[in-house]
Amino acid sequence: MRTLAPLASAALAAAAAAQPVPAPTPAPPPAAEVRQCGICHGRREFKQVDADGTARTLWVDERELRRSVHSKWHCIDCHADVDRIPHPARLAKVNCQRCHFPGNPVGAPEDVNYEGYVKSVHGRLRLAGNLKAPACQDCHGAHGVVKHTDPASQVHPTRVPATCGRCHVQIFAEYTTSAHGISLLEKGNTEAPSCSACHGEHGILPAKENASAVSATHIPETCSTCHGMTEFNLRYGIPINPVRTFRHTFHGIANELGSARVANCASCHTAHNVLSASDPRSTVNPANIPTTCGRAGCHPGANANYARGRFHIDPSSRDAGIIYWVALFFKILTISTLAGLGMHILLDLAKKLRHRHHGAATRD
Ligand code: HEC
Ligand code: HEC
Ligand code: HEC
Ligand code: HEC
Ligand code: HEC
Ligand code: HEC
Ligand code: HEC
Ligand code: HEC
Repeated sequence: MRTLAPLASAALAAAAAAQPVPAPTPAPPPAAEVRQCGICHGRREFKQVDADGTARTLWVDERELRRSVHSKWHCIDCHADVDRIPHPARLAKVNCQRCHFPGNPVGAPEDVNYEGYVKSVHGRLRLAGNLKAPACQDCHGAHGVVKHTDPASQVHPTRVPATCGRCHVQIFAEYTTSAHGISLLEKGNTEAPSCSACHGEHGILPAKENASAVSATHIPETCSTCHGMTEFNLRYGIPINPVRTFRHTFHGIANELGSARVANCASCHTAHNVLSASDPRSTVNPANIPTTCGRAGCHPGANANYARGRFHIDPSSRDAGIIYWVALFFKILTISTLAGLGMHILLDLAKKLRHRHHGAATRD
């Protein structure tokens, strides 16, 4: 087993000192007996019973650690404040950024979006001392950290919703019954979005900040990573490209020009309760459209007429029904009118030229 101390602790401490999260002061290499954590924590029945009788297990299954990405490290490389036995009852929370920071000397993959976490809503709150906001281990776990591609990882796409949902309980509940949630969680379809497909993972920002992936003006772009491709939609039986058709509407144009007040995808479909229009619970089901359009004072007089016809229309597709034929009619009308006009001008010109050529142009 490798240990940080004395191997790399000096370099590590120097580098970590530059980090915004206070790094623990490096302890001198502990005596061998301090490393015998297993004497107590290796026993299955080792637990702490509080005054009110609630028990908390203090057993650490070392096999879990050995199977994790941190298999090479010793307990004290993470629990760096344990420098004597018996150790103090209150220990500091483990600081993953002891190793995971850009340019670290131990080869810990620096969080690719390290800056992202520090500047995120979670990182900012955490640095300000709010313990309700997640630190690395709240999303990744403690002793059993494995790569995100491993289905056992807490941040594997199919487990992300439950991981975020521990804190965002209400949103998780909505999401699990949505078309996206059912597809990912029940059908195991990893093409459906987990929370982080829409929000990001480390750089999550509040919706009201413009740079957020879910700010009013960025929502169409975020949905477009999947629904922007016609191929993708067809594969799921969605006959239109909802992003392209949205961009042609008044709402879409105003949104692109930066209006946060005009309806975006989530205003009509909701963010977490996205359902097929044929589902009676859907906000875009014909029966619910008047309420949806009338919400937030947008179209106060919205009535059943709002539910007539379709919203996402591509006039160049036969699927648009009457609109296709009307568009086609006007296209033909425009072309034939222009052609007639052109013909008229040509004939007129030819006539004038002929007259001039014969020197017989009339004065009127
Ligand atoms: C002599 C037994 C003993 C040994 C050896 C021991 N511990 Fe503990 N440990 C305890 C007890 C008892 C507690 C519960 C402390 C409390 O909260 O009252 C505990 C709690 C902990 C906690 C949880 C603290 C918290 O605030 O929740 C951690 C982490 C921990 N030990 C790490 C270690 C590490 C790392 C080692 C080896 C370097 C180690 N322990 C060695 C007895 C031991
Ligand atoms: C990769 C870092 C890492 C290593 C290595 C590690 N721990 Fe932990 N340990 C954590 C984290 C993270 C927690 C959760 C509490 C926290 O955030 O500080 C934790 C929690 C604990 C607790 C509190 C009870 C619990 O399970 O929540 C004990 C006891 C403990 N560790 C003992 C050990 C022992 C003994 C070893 C060595 C066999 C060890 N740890 C190795 C990161 C680590
Ligand atoms: C003692 C230094 C150290 C500490 C502390 C540490 N890590 Fe690591 N971590 C590493 C190293 C080194 C690797 C690379 C392991 C490998 O590739 O074999 C790693 C790998 C990882 C990976 C896998 C990344 C990948 O793509 O392979 C994750 C996720 C991770 N750590 C998260 C954490 C979390 C969460 C904590 C805090 C609970 C933590 N680490 C604490 C050193 C550390
Ligand atoms: C809000 C939850 C959350 C927090 C907090 C968080 N992460 Fe992550 N992290 C994720 C998710 C989700 C992924 C998976 C990304 C993917 O699927 O590509 C991830 C991926 C990673 C990876 C890439 C590789 C892998 O195999 O898992 C590393 C390394 C990592 N995180 C380290 C950290 C460190 C260090 C911190 C603390 C500074 C941290 N994370 C904080 C959610 C979080
Ligand atoms: C399909 C994309 C998508 C998915 C998947 C998604 N969200 Fe959201 N989320 C959004 C959008 C868009 C908003 C902004 C809502 C708005 O402006 O009304 C949002 C807003 C939020 C907010 C802020 C709410 C507020 O009141 O400010 C939180 C917290 C949140 N989401 C958490 C989650 C969690 C947790 C999950 C997974 C269980 C998740 N989201 C899945 C798109 C998504
Ligand atoms: C340990 C608890 C915890 C976990 C895990 C967690 N969050 Fe949060 N999150 C918070 C807290 C606390 C806030 C700030 C309070 C608030 O606004 O709800 C917050 C804020 C947010 C916001 C901004 C809300 C706003 O103000 O607009 C979003 C979006 C968000 N989290 C998404 C996620 C996503 C996605 C995940 C999983 C990848 C996640 N959170 C995991 C606790 C958590
Ligand atoms: C990561 C890819 C991805 C993202 C991002 C995404 N979706 Fe989806 N969406 C899907 C998949 C996949 C389905 C089909 C699920 C199934 O039927 O199994 C779907 C289904 C839907 C449906 C229901 C279609 C039907 O008839 O069942 C609607 C409505 C929808 N998405 C709207 C949105 C909106 C609005 C956003 C942005 C806030 C969004 N989606 C973001 C992948 C995505
Ligand atoms: C003004 C409200 C509104 C806006 C804005 C809107 N939609 Fe829709 N969407 C609807 C309605 C209503 C339907 C039902 C079919 C129709 O009318 O075309 C629908 C259907 C869909 C469908 C097919 C689902 C099904 O069950 O048929 C998808 C996918 C979709 N929208 C995604 C999006 C995306 C992505 C955006 C943003 C780029 C968006 N929508 C913007 C109202 C809206």
